[in-house]
Amino acid sequence: MNKFNSSQNIGEIVVEFPKAADVFKAYKIDFCCGGNRSLITAIKEQELDETEVLDRLNKLYKNIAENPGANDKDWREASTEEIVEQILYKHHAYLWAEMPKIGRLVITILKVHGANHPELSKAHRLFNTVKTELESHLVKEETIQYPAIREYLDSNDEADLDKAIKIIDELKEEHAGAGNIMKELRIVTDDYKIPADACMTFESTYAKLQEMEDDLFQHIHIENNVLFPRLLGLKNAKRSNVG
Ligand SMILES: [Fe+2]
Ligand SMILES: [Fe+2]
Repeated sequence: MNKFNSSQNIGEIVVEFPKAADVFKAYKIDFCCGGNRSLITAIKEQELDETEVLDRLNKLYKNIAENPGANDKDWREASTEEIVEQILYKHHAYLWAEMPKIGRLVITILKVHGANHPELSKAHRLFNTVKTELESHLVKEETIQYPAIREYLDSNDEADLDKAIKIIDELKEEHAGAGNIMKELRIVTDDYKIPADACMTFESTYAKLQEMEDDLFQHIHIENNVLFPRLLGLKNAKRSNVG
């Protein structure tokens, strides 16, 4: 009996089985910003082989189920406080620390290799756009949404919860924007293919950009598919308590 089928929602599959993200990444199936749709929709859109994708997903699940401990954390079981800490101290801290460093690397390889590699000037522009957008996005979350969630956890006051919920749509749109730029970066760099004349810095810049993509997709996935539904669930629970 297979664990997953293609009528399931992509985001829900990754929530239930975090390692599914590796399979989706391999097929360029968007699980964070485009997580709220069925797997079959993405398979059809991208003209993928449904049997192959499901087979890979179900085999990986079986392997991991047989080797417990290798699995990633199931964030649905975490407390809201734990999710908030994971996002702020792991994912936001990562971006604040790494984006400036990656920015310096991107400009360095543009100076050295830009004449022979026109894709680097596109990558430079895309990286700086996503960096700028993410900086204001992180600030928005850190000054509005996360404090409101923490206030709510303290006060249990519905006004605090509403404040956190009110900007969900806006944040989701920004996630989609950042996700799209990361996808474009992949396209212009031909999947971060290292050219024959590349130096060490070139290689490490591409490695860093891919690491950032990984971290960002995981971060957006937890916000879109775990945290936001959690907040909406708390709101519903409040409503049914009142009603
Ligand atoms: Fe965030
Ligand atoms: Fe976010």
